Amino acid sequence: MTDPAASSTKPRVLSCMQPTGDVHLGNYLGALQPWVAGQHRNDAFHGIVDLHALTVTDKPGVVGQAAVELAAMFFAVGLDPDVATVFVQSHVPEHNQLGWVMECTISFGELSRMTQFKDKSAKREQDFISGGLFTYPALQAADILLYDTNQVPVGDDQRQHIEITRDAALRFNHRFGETFVLPEAVTPAAGARVMSLQDPSSKMSKSDDSDAGCVYLTDDPKAVMKKFKRAVTDSETGPDSVRFDREIKPGVSNLLEIHAAVTDRTPQAVSEEFEQYGALKVATGEAVLAVLDPIRERYNELMEDRGELARLLKIGAERARGVAAATLERAYTNIGMLPA
Ligand code: TRP
Repeated sequence: MTDPAASSTKPRVLSCMQPTGDVHLGNYLGALQPWVAGQHRNDAFHGIVDLHALTVTDKPGVVGQAAVELAAMFFAVGLDPDVATVFVQSHVPEHNQLGWVMECTISFGELSRMTQFKDKSAKREQDFISGGLFTYPALQAADILLYDTNQVPVGDDQRQHIEITRDAALRFNHRFGETFVLPEAVTPAAGARVMSLQDPSSKMSKSDDSDAGCVYLTDDPKAVMKKFKRAVTDSETGPDSVRFDREIKPGVSNLLEIHAAVTDRTPQAVSEEFEQYGALKVATGEAVLAVLDPIRERYNELMEDRGELARLLKIGAERARGVAAATLERAYTNIGMLPA
């Protein structure tokens, strides 16, 4: 077994994102920023899981374009290819190969109990529901187990998928002998919880009905300022109206939390500087732009230099394959597959 990190005492941590649309401020402050901070503490692997996106893809060109954009964004926000392993899932064929093994290790009943499948298939009721949407957790189990992953930082919506991965690993190890490292779901380093600027009771998301509530990292500065100026607040007035209280003042608190996250302070500390919503909105937009401007610049540079992007992704794919191929071979050997 050759594992480049075998001698490292850092935990192997895997986080993945599907290339299914533009990256927004919620993704950045909630996930990408903590990933960037964690890359030196951990042996970090970050996958752009394009095969997962195929579960809901029916047009040519879309996934590849989204994958290259997400890769440029990963590097633009500061993931360092010399430190973290950044790869595109389809560049590492071992994902498909171990994915099949996992489909045969997880039962139909277990897959049927996945709440994400039930939710997603219900939402697509009139639409095409692919078999892949159902077997998706088996592919995700392969993603995780291939890298001898110790920790997977996930939100609540993904915990069940980590549980099924652990169950699959245990079952496989029991059937065929010690093969896989048991991964653990960990609560991600606290990123900011960013809500929609138009409906602060729901998370900022790409599926917002209008784009007005969602700030994309590639939005031009004018659009960003406009979205902040139009952010929904409340009708309280007076010098005390700017305070952090998620229950009673969700809109104002969201602005305070965003402002605090991009200036590395607490929402309470930010609230003390403002007495009026208008001033808070403008200052928050400006503070966000101070962070987004350099990201957008690096992103545009990389998108114009596809050769460089391809080079960076090749480094990641080679490193990822080095680990993944060894794990797949271990699994095949322990099953006792006929060697090629
Ligand atoms: N299922 C995850 C999501 O929808 C994405 C994902 C795929 C993933 N493979 C993974 C996350 C492996 C962590 C580890 O967000």
